[in-house]
Amino acid sequence: FGLPPAVNEPMRNYEVKSADRAGLQAAVEAMRAAGPFDVPCIVDGAEVRTGRTQQQRNPGNHEHVLCTYHEADAALTEKAIAGALKAKAQWEAMPWNDRAAIFLKAADLIAGKWRFPLMAATMLGQGKNAWQAEIDAAAESCDFLRFGVKFVDEMYSIQPAEHSKTVYNRSEYRALEGFVFAISPFNFTAIAANLVGAPALVGNTVVWKPSPMAIYSNYLVYKIFEEAGMPAGVVQFVPGPAEEIASTAIAHRAFAALHFTGSTHVFRSLWKQIAGCMDNYVGYPRIVGETGGKNFHLVHKSADVDAAVHQAIRGAFEYQGQKCSALSRLYVPQSMWAGGFKEKLLREIASISQGPVEQFEHFMGPVIARHSYDKILGLIDAAKKEGGEVLCGGRGNDATGFFVEPTVIETREPRSVTMVNEIFGPVITVYAYPDEQFEETCRIIDTTTEYALTGSVFARDRYAVITASNLLRNSSGMFYINDKCTGAVVGQQPFGGGRASGTNDKAGSMAIFLRFVQQRTIKETM
Ligand code: ALA
Repeated sequence: FGLPPAVNEPMRNYEVKSADRAGLQAAVEAMRAAGPFDVPCIVDGAEVRTGRTQQQRNPGNHEHVLCTYHEADAALTEKAIAGALKAKAQWEAMPWNDRAAIFLKAADLIAGKWRFPLMAATMLGQGKNAWQAEIDAAAESCDFLRFGVKFVDEMYSIQPAEHSKTVYNRSEYRALEGFVFAISPFNFTAIAANLVGAPALVGNTVVWKPSPMAIYSNYLVYKIFEEAGMPAGVVQFVPGPAEEIASTAIAHRAFAALHFTGSTHVFRSLWKQIAGCMDNYVGYPRIVGETGGKNFHLVHKSADVDAAVHQAIRGAFEYQGQKCSALSRLYVPQSMWAGGFKEKLLREIASISQGPVEQFEHFMGPVIARHSYDKILGLIDAAKKEGGEVLCGGRGNDATGFFVEPTVIETREPRSVTMVNEIFGPVITVYAYPDEQFEETCRIIDTTTEYALTGSVFARDRYAVITASNLLRNSSGMFYINDKCTGAVVGQQPFGGGRASGTNDKAGSMAIFLRFVQQRTIKETM
């Protein structure tokens, strides 16, 4: 169709005294001054104020209420589902070029006039610093939309190659029959945009339950879609109690798919609920989920120590470790650990600054909420009780916001509590392995947790790289060589994991779109 080529949105650096820094700072201050905002549900394009309200607070500042939002209940969810089903026929029938234009326009709005407000909402509501907000809300959101258009265009062009003089074969990629239910997480504004945008791009209508901890940025994503020309009813925005909304959506006969990012526990419970409703459905619902992680860096004795230390810090502590991909388990040869790695790691961590993201100075900000703060500190305590040695950090400070220090725990037991359980916070547990036991360590990595999201090997020796790649082939959906295990870029590293980490339907690739279409083969005899 001659669509514009997809390119990754260029990243800005927000250096001191730059116009971008000033612009973003002004947007943050303006948002702070203008709030708290009143966020409605949006059903069939109309704002609904239910009066049942909750607050989204700034995780780095207890005093600051970013927004008050209205919660949907089961009845409003039913209405949203009915609206989504009603909107579907016209949406699905819209010519592809016109549907694509809406998403390309939304990307341009995010890259342009909405960039700073969307970043400001992600900073103030989700505790991301400017650079993490740029990666997420600005760049990755645009990338998901622009590359999404490219992947769908390529998917539509996959057609049967063989015809004859009397037979014309073709494939149609139709939207699913029913509605898609999307549940999005707090930690990436871009993931929310993609959980909703991907199914909508191929002609589905979507009932969307955003995370209570990301309401304001997610509401802005809705407003951007609307401004870009998304017709009323295509996306139904229904924040509120997860169980009530999810059980209403899943119990509906027209439930066609779940598009989920969040915890393994919640995903499993939703899957079981779906199974329980199987006899009621029109078809077999598509279940697409990206869940937890317990990600590793494996350092070989041939590795570049400076790079391995630096990437460990970035992988574990950027956004306070609240990425499903974040580094959590670090395996270093004993001689390297004692011979400078440990000292260098601790020295670099000592220079990390932490504080409110509005100050534009800090590498680290707060964790998202009280329950995360308590969980992280609880797991650090459990590690200590088991004999883990806290080498740095280990403390929290919740006087003004939910701040947890960057923490390193050394363990002599590779299956200790913080080696096994997902923490979702700024904690690395290190196991220094006997130098000659590289293969054995791969086997330990492979069998320690139920997750398989991301992992890295650091080595100059190619045999070590190949050995790790083979022995760890099922241990991660994303395998990095000499790089940190976070930061997949749309269009470059399709993202997703297996085992308890998800259904591995790679986001940022064509694979995800194939899950939200039903293919119809047409054979026409001429
Ligand atoms: N896609 C994000 C990353 O790779 C989660 O870090």
